Amino acid sequence: MDDSLASFIAGLPKAELHLHLEGSFEPEQMFAIARRNKADIPFKSVEEVRAAYRFSNLQDFLDIYYRAAEVLRTEEDFHDLTLAYLKRVAADGVRHVEVFFDPQTHTARGIPFATVAGGILKALKEGDGFGITSKLILCFLRHLSEEDGFATFKQAEPWLDHIAGVGLDSSELGHPPSQLTHLFDAARAAGLKLVAHAGEEGPAAYVWEALDILHVDRIDHGNRSLDDPRLVARLAAEQMTLTVCPLSNFKLCVVKDMAQHPLKRMLDLGLRATVNSDDPAYFGGYVNANFAAVAEALALSKAELATLAKNSFLGSFLDEDAKARHAAAVDTYAAQDGQL
Ligand code: HPA
Ligand code: ZN
Repeated sequence: MDDSLASFIAGLPKAELHLHLEGSFEPEQMFAIARRNKADIPFKSVEEVRAAYRFSNLQDFLDIYYRAAEVLRTEEDFHDLTLAYLKRVAADGVRHVEVFFDPQTHTARGIPFATVAGGILKALKEGDGFGITSKLILCFLRHLSEEDGFATFKQAEPWLDHIAGVGLDSSELGHPPSQLTHLFDAARAAGLKLVAHAGEEGPAAYVWEALDILHVDRIDHGNRSLDDPRLVARLAAEQMTLTVCPLSNFKLCVVKDMAQHPLKRMLDLGLRATVNSDDPAYFGGYVNANFAAVAEALALSKAELATLAKNSFLGSFLDEDAKARHAAAVDTYAAQDGQL
């Protein structure tokens, strides 16, 4: 890629709004933590792990992702995982992150909620020290029952002052958002923000449900929205943020080829799309690699890249002052490059 475009992406101030902490678990760290915990992993080497990361759909990935997460056991493990991610994205010009964690993956194995949340929050606080602000989003696993989600929500109660919102992830097909209506009602009543994965593998109807039944504040992925012009009009009119994940879409075969990725069409349709890495350790790149992949395959202009970065702040759960400050920083950066 053109050096000027790569350095423009590298210096662009940005937020990441769709990142699963368990999906930032790099193979090297997986081996180090497995050794520390005397835990078994079904791989002999880092190379063997990377070779296993060939997926034909979301479930293929999830099977390996949940298996790897079993290595995480202590507060220190969750802290180290989170801190490694923050340090990595500090180098990508990331100023703010809103990260997901999947407590049920851990509590189901007998790891206390406090061990998971305590470790993550300690690292997030350290991130403030090197210039990355953050918010934490508790994701419910949609392949589990609403009752299981409620039990997890109960465990989260003492931590709610430190949790900005709840999300919905895991196997999408066959698990429409409406299955967790009561749980999302309870989270809203507790003052939390709401997000949901929808329209990654599932149909546009799932995006409608996330909007009209769960009343979410953001849609994670949302690719399949483009199948439904009435839904596109609705998303554009509301300036609903879509947290799009290009390399994830490619690795999970949601798109066949990066040149066919819908991100540019989303921008052209006036949708508030953002660029995110989803599970960077599994999908081959952190946020700047995602920007670079779409910039190249879709021939995005620097002005379009700046819009994507601005959208990441405008779509965040920061207060209005902070959003305006960050958006102005993107404008200043683009103007220095002669883009405005
Ligand atoms: N989709 C659904 N669940 C997930 C994902 C995803 O992309 N990543 C981690 N859990
Ligand atoms: Zn995701």
